[in-house]
Order: sequence, then structure tokens, then C-alpha cells
Amino acid sequence: MISKPKGTEDIIFNKAKQIKYVEKVIDEVMEKYNYNYIDTPIFESTELFHRSVGDASDIVTKETYDFTDRGGREMTLRPEGTAGVVRSYIENKMYGMASQPIKLYYNGPMFRYERPQAGRDRQFSQFGVEVLGSDDAMVDAEVISLAYNIYKTIGLSNIVVNINSLGDTESRDNYRKLIVDYFTPHIDDLCDDCKRRLNSNPLRILDCKVDADSEIMKNAPSILDSLNKESRQHFDKVCEYLDILQVPYSINSSIVRGLDYYDHTVFEFVDKSMEGNSNVLGGGGRYNNLVKELGGEDIPAVGFASGISRVLLALEAEEVSLDINEDIDLFLLYVNEVEKNYAIYLTQELRMNGFIVETEYLNRSLKAQFRQADRLNSKFVSVLNSEDLDNNEIKVKNTKTKEEDVINLDALIYYLEEKSNDEVMDDIYNLDNE
Ligand code: HAM
Repeated sequence: MISKPKGTEDIIFNKAKQIKYVEKVIDEVMEKYNYNYIDTPIFESTELFHRSVGDASDIVTKETYDFTDRGGREMTLRPEGTAGVVRSYIENKMYGMASQPIKLYYNGPMFRYERPQAGRDRQFSQFGVEVLGSDDAMVDAEVISLAYNIYKTIGLSNIVVNINSLGDTESRDNYRKLIVDYFTPHIDDLCDDCKRRLNSNPLRILDCKVDADSEIMKNAPSILDSLNKESRQHFDKVCEYLDILQVPYSINSSIVRGLDYYDHTVFEFVDKSMEGNSNVLGGGGRYNNLVKELGGEDIPAVGFASGISRVLLALEAEEVSLDINEDIDLFLLYVNEVEKNYAIYLTQELRMNGFIVETEYLNRSLKAQFRQADRLNSKFVSVLNSEDLDNNEIKVKNTKTKEEDVINLDALIYYLEEKSNDEVMDDIYNLDNE
């Protein structure tokens, strides 16, 4: 038997339903915020990720799926969505469009060759947003609150956003010098990765999971103290707007993010009910230099992304059950060929009128058909009977109350509509009484 590649998953049945539910919420909230859906290629030129995510980043050095195509071109399966969206923004000249800023969202598979564990897959679905064309702090705050509201609408209630600022290039250059001076005398006490980072990417030392609790790390200078006036003002404004939007945040100066394109605001969402590394549900930040780095104009931008599997883990940790419909409305049973023909016709007719209807596909006995209706949680069952059909009638039985009504076939749709309205009212009534 050939099995699925390590770090990938067959998303089936209940999990598939949960994901569809989460994706529906994402689409609905994105629509409210007026973000436009964008779908970019799953593979791009390798160079795109080297120039955006960064040559020295863990993602590019250790985790990309690279291949040479049959035409000899160097290609990479996208490890994240921002690079492709920015490439598309430049290529499609979105900066020239009348309506600015450009607000985009996406949802699709990403690929990283990581050590698989819960919430860390080699192929994973990520949704995200990118807003290009405004450097106003209100956009940073909107992106954060949009993500927060998606989590909240899905049903998560233990979410907090950790936020930091990396400042502009000047602030970051100053800070880089400061921490290189600070860590150099302690180099022997750092982990191997951090020893390497001291030369290649010193800011990433702050994000190290291995050395996180060491005294050296705790006493490291904070980047927030190195921000110049403009950077500090931008950060203060983001916090002010988050207060207005009532998003709970906590300022955490050790957040630096694993991708190289960020400046100013960076943030990560964590679910406090979850443990370990995978409690980060999503993250993002501002990247005012990336459009220019990739050959476009000097255009500021900010964005965020989140892994869908992490959202499912958070739902599990918070013990949230999603409001997923597990029932069908009606199961049509039959015995002979005439009734079967009618079942085929009626199933389609009712489905086209908005009902979830199933019928028998295996010519089983009536008893077995009842069992199938039961397995499918059918709210109503109807045994089609030639005699009833000749009289233009149908018997419909409520599987819960066991009540049965004989209905004129022409009134079946109205009957089912009325019954499902009654049920909605019952649900509301029961909720009120809980
Ligand atoms: P990131 O932090 O690398 O940022 O990934 C964002 C989210 O994707 C993570 O917080 C996590 O939920 C999910 N994720 C990442 N790797 C995996 C994995 N191996 N398995 C499952 N889920 C994973 C970015 O990707 C940036 N592009 C975010 C951004 C958008 N910044 C600005 N705009």
C-alpha cells in the first residue's frame, strides 16, 4: 500500500466539515471588512522567497520544497502567502488602481519541510490578509482586529495578541548593534543556532525557544527602547487603536518573527488554553520595504496569516463544539421500481428546493433502509407507496415524535418548510429556557 507523505493529511468526514465551517466564517468576516479574495500560484520562482522571506531565514535555509521544472527553471512550493501576493500586486499593477489601499485575503495550501508534530505539518492550509498602500497605524490595528474577530466568531474565547515593534530601518540598525554587543561576550552560553544567528540574523536570537528562559535572554535590551520617535509614535497609535477596537493585547518585546521582511508592528496570536509551540495560531506584521525589494514602488503594507489546523487544535483545547449540521431533512424509502422512479424524481425536486434529502442506492430491504435513515439522522422518513402516489399523496413520519401525516404531494415542500420553521422556533425557545 502506498501511504501519504509524512507531514500531510487526508482531510475527511468530521474534520472536513469542521474546516468547511471555519472557512465559511473566514469568508463571511472577510466580506464584512471588504477584503478581496486572491488566489496566487502554489509554486513560484525560488528567487521570490529568497528575496522576501529571506536568505538567512529558517524557512528558506531548511524548509522549502524546491524543484527544477522540466524547462530547467528553479521553482519552490510556496511556504507562505505574502511573497506571492506582493509579486501579484506588482505584476498586476494594483498600485495604479483607483481604489486604494488594496485589501486582499487568501486561503490555501502552503508547504514547509518541518519536523511534523501537532499543528506543524509539511502541507498545511493557511488563510491570511495583506493590505498594500497605507502606512496608517489604523490599518495595522484593523488587520489585528480582523484576525481577532475571525477567531471570536469561530467560537474561540481565550485568545490574546502579543505585539511588538521592530521599528524602521534606522531603529533596527541601532538595536542590532546593541544586541550584538550584548550577546557577543555570552556567545558560549547560546545554543548552536543562536551562535550562527549572531552573525546572520541577531534579532532572531530573541525568538529562540531553546534559550528563552536563560538569564542572558531575560536581561537582553528591549527593542522598544531603541525605537526612534516616528517608530515609537506609530507603535503607540497601533496600541491606541487596538484599545478603541477592544482587542486584548500584551506588549512583548521578544516577538521578532521568523520571516525577514518585517518592520514596525509585529504580532502573534496565542490561545492561552493551548500548550507548547503550536499555541501560536497566527501572526503577521508590517512590511514597508518588501514591495520595493521585489521590484515595485515604495509602498507600505501590513498583513497576517493563520494556520487552519492550529485553529482546530485551539477549538479542541477550548472544548468548543462547532454548530455543524449532522442531520438530513428527509430519507425516501421505496420497494418497487415505480416507487424508485418517484424517489429519484422527488429527491432531486426537494434538493433543488433547499432540503437535504437522501434515498436508497443499494436496493436494500425496507428494514435496512430504515437503519440507513437512522444512521444519517434523518428528521423525517417517508416510505413511498404506489397506491399513495396514485392518489397524489405521501406519508411523512417525524423520526423523533413518531407522528405521521398524510400530505398532498403538491404541499410537501410547504409541509417540510413549516416543520423546519417549527423546529427553529423550538430551538430558540429551548435556548431561552436554558
Ligand atoms: P508565519 O508565522 O510563518 O507567518 O505563519 C503564520 C501561521 O501559519 C502560523 O502562526 C501557523 O498558524 C501557520 N503555520 C506555519 N507553519 C505551519 C505548519 N508547518 N503547519 C501548520 N501551520 C503552520 C507567515 O506565514 C506570514 N506570511 C504572515 C504574514 C502575512 N505576515 C504578513 N502578512
